[in-house]
Amino acid sequence: MKFATKCVHAGQQPDPLTGSIIPPIYQTATYVLPEVGRDLGFDYTRSSNPTRQILENNLAALESGKYGVCFASGMSAVDAVMKLLKAGDHVVCSDDVYGGVSRHFNQVLASFGLQFTYVDTTAPGNVADAIRDETKLIWLETPSNPLLKVTDIGAVCKIARDAGIPVGVDSTFATPVFLRPLELGADIVMHSTTKYLSGHNQIIGGAVALNDEDMFQRLKFLQKTVGAVNSPFDAWLTLLGIKTLHLRMRRHSDTGMRIAEFLGAHPKIARVSYPGLKSHPQHAVAAREMSGFGGMLSFELKGGIPAGKALMNALQLCQLAESLGSVETMITHPATMTHVDVPPAERNARGLTDGLVRLSVGIEDPADIEEDLARGLEKA
Ligand SMILES: Cc1ncc(COP(=O)(O)O)c(C=O)c1O
Repeated sequence: MKFATKCVHAGQQPDPLTGSIIPPIYQTATYVLPEVGRDLGFDYTRSSNPTRQILENNLAALESGKYGVCFASGMSAVDAVMKLLKAGDHVVCSDDVYGGVSRHFNQVLASFGLQFTYVDTTAPGNVADAIRDETKLIWLETPSNPLLKVTDIGAVCKIARDAGIPVGVDSTFATPVFLRPLELGADIVMHSTTKYLSGHNQIIGGAVALNDEDMFQRLKFLQKTVGAVNSPFDAWLTLLGIKTLHLRMRRHSDTGMRIAEFLGAHPKIARVSYPGLKSHPQHAVAAREMSGFGGMLSFELKGGIPAGKALMNALQLCQLAESLGSVETMITHPATMTHVDVPPAERNARGLTDGLVRLSVGIEDPADIEEDLARGLEKA
């Protein structure tokens, strides 16, 4: 099955009872057993649910993996992966990650004895240098939030394989349309399905896909034991979103490129980060490992923080909002929104300045997005 066909059909068949072409929403907490000691494959929705299972199988197919496991949010998917580790274990992590991820690592998991070292993974040698005896996981976010740094997954996986350490990749920005980390040697791929996969700002959800049977069983155990699961309705809404994922991503990416070029040529813009631009430091890696560059970009204005704020407040079509990866164009100020919990000194050291603006390009007419930005920039 080719990728576009997988988006529409993988893991799904017409409902055997009614022929319903869309999978039913099994909105139930529990299942009646035919007799003691025998169930029909489901016993309690925290453990598994037919609608969620269809989504899990669909996502596994999209990522070229054997298994998928869904969670209540991207954060609970990350949390489940980290719970494969134990106190004393060490993780080498990309230095530019979503602020909620570093908050979780530093302010929650560190107190349970996990250790994290953040390195610029765009230079794979930094990963090799940070590996210690206790290193049990390498965690990459690529392209990263919000600086759009791109890591060479194949190169990091080679280093990890030689050291016997699994690699997990937060591939939320790229989606399996443009990047499939398992095909490049990664062990786990993770998504905030809140973003492009569901695609319409309609749910909060997360997922992982993988090939290793033992790791899958441990993640299923964590899913049912901790219970951070997505509801059947949310799983169903995500499945509907995925049916058009391949079409939406192409449009996000085409418009992303157009807007990146427009901003790059604008006299009030100091710099633009978009992996599709030849000026992007890892453009060659992105062109090699990804089949498209996506709809996320970030930029800084020459007028710094006041100009950035003036722009964001002046926009009419682009919505000032905390999320990304939806059909609506959304603009975000990472320093006061998505990355507000990263201490200012750390933000500055990472290059995440107070003047940085992040744009998630939607699927509106690109001319309208450009016009809104042009109008906003007049005020900046
Ligand atoms: C790259 C990335 N990973 C993980 C998350 C967390 O996902 P969620 O908000 O679904 O918990 C986000 C949220 O913005 C994100 O951007």
